[in-house]
Order: sequence, then C-alpha cells, then structure tokens
Amino acid sequence: MKIQKGGIGIFDSGIGGLTVLAECRKLLPEERFYYYGDNQHAPYGNLPIEKIRRYVFSAFEKFQRLEVKAAVLACNTVTALCVEELRERYSFPIIGAEPAVFTAARRGGEVWVLTTRATYNSERFRTLCKRAEEKYPQGKIRAVACDCLAGVIETNIGREDFNYTLALPSGTPSSVVLGCTHYIYIKESIRQFYGCEVYDGNFGIAKRLADTLLKEGKNGCDFVEKTTFMKKVGMNDHSVTTTPKNTNKCSPYNQETFERKREGKKLVFLGKLKGKNKKIYKQTFGF
Ligand code: DGL
Repeated sequence: MKIQKGGIGIFDSGIGGLTVLAECRKLLPEERFYYYGDNQHAPYGNLPIEKIRRYVFSAFEKFQRLEVKAAVLACNTVTALCVEELRERYSFPIIGAEPAVFTAARRGGEVWVLTTRATYNSERFRTLCKRAEEKYPQGKIRAVACDCLAGVIETNIGREDFNYTLALPSGTPSSVVLGCTHYIYIKESIRQFYGCEVYDGNFGIAKRLADTLLKEGKNGCDFVEKTTFMKKVGMNDHSVTTTPKNTNKCSPYNQETFERKREGKKLVFLGKLKGKNKKIYKQTFGF
C-alpha cells in the first residue's frame, strides 16, 4: 500500500506510545498519524545508548521519507537520551515526552517518579527534577527506576489475570508521576496500589503538538479531502460532526464506509511488528 505523505510521526519503543497517539488523535482528529513502534527491540530501558540511538534514527529516517510535518517522541527514555540530537538532525519539529514532575511537585509532599533505568540515569531527567524542586520546594522528588516494568507490560498487555503491581516498589508516596508511557496502561492499578494521585504527561504532549502545528501554520491539511469524500457518499459536514456513532441520522452504510476510509487514511502503523500495535490500539482505544 502506498502511504500518503505529510502526517505526524509518533515513535515509541513499543506499545507505550499508543496511549500518546490516542490523546493526540482526540485533540487533532483531522490529522494523519504514522505510529512507529519498535516492539522488536523493546524494552529500551536497559539497552546501551548506542543501540537505542541506532533504532531511533532508523525510525526517524522513515519519518523523514514520509515528509512528516512534526514528530512526537512518545517515549520518555528516548527523549531523555537523544531528543537534542534528533532536533539537530531533522528540520521538522520534534515534541518530546517528559514526566509531569512540575504538576506533582506543585502539590507538595513526597513525589515518586517511576522511570526506566535509562531515563533514571540520564542527565536530562536529573536536571528536570532539580528544576521542579527549585520551583516548588514543597515537593520532594524521588526518582525510582523500575527495571522490568515496561517489559512486563509490553509482553503481558491484554492479559486480564496478570498482576503488574508485583513489579512495583512498595512505599507510601504522596503522589506518583509516570515517567514511561508504557506505565499508563496500568495507571489505575498504580493508583490503587499506592492509594494516591497518579500523574501522566500525555495531555501535555498532545497540547504541545497542537500548539506547535498551529504556530507553524501546519494544521488542518486534509479538510479538503474529507469534504470531497463526504460529498461523494452523500453526507454533509453536520452529519459527521454531530451524529454520534451508531445513530441512524445518516445511512449506516455511508457512516461505516466513511469511517473505514478515514481510518485507512488517517492512521498508519509502521515497524516490523506493526500488527501488534494495531491490534492493541484497536482493543484499547477503538479506532
Ligand atoms: N515507553 C518508553 C518510555 O516512555 C520506553 C519503555 C522501554 O522501552 O523501556 O520510556
């Protein structure tokens, strides 16, 4: 299948970034997204930095060929290790993922930031925590490296019977920040396990993407394609924007056809194990 160019690239080591993709699509439903998950090499958290760099640059070469108008590093680990280098090499804007430490520190108390080992060891992450503590001294940040958690989630996602909290360190934090996009799948279990507020940065990432596109004048590219298609199948703009799914305001055939076409065009999965991401995305978020 020939892939249309000019959308937004989203990258993660595996399934974690799908949670970011869902948030971005909510905010920017008209955009086309390419999701590149490197599940073959996930988890990245305990790999040597040289390997991670090689894998990430190979994905970004693909984004470059697709002439993306922006890319999102839906991965805290990669952001911590190589966002600057990527920004130097590529001319399109790159939005990174960073733990929401400012939001949590502002509320005060003992803030635990759960991350991969690579993020934990990185200079960028250390600096971020220091800045948050300086700004909000009422918050005491403690970084906690969870060596196998991302891998456990990557492998067992979808298994109802699996107890992910076995991989969590015990303690009594005042709040927890999720410093890895994989952890968002088990946000509710983490909240119950520690009995405190849990923060993730996904909305912030989607918002930064939307702001960047707006600033660069790169949004709304396919409005014309959409209206042309709707005319073809006899729909008007009103029926699409205001008819909830499964009502019969417009013919179900047309609605379904529109959504199928729209899905094919708007969301493309890349990477060796793209079928896995497509399946998880569909199961978790629908389309
Ligand atoms: N989802 C990634 C992150 O946000 C990477 C997890 C991993 O591959 O170890 O850090």
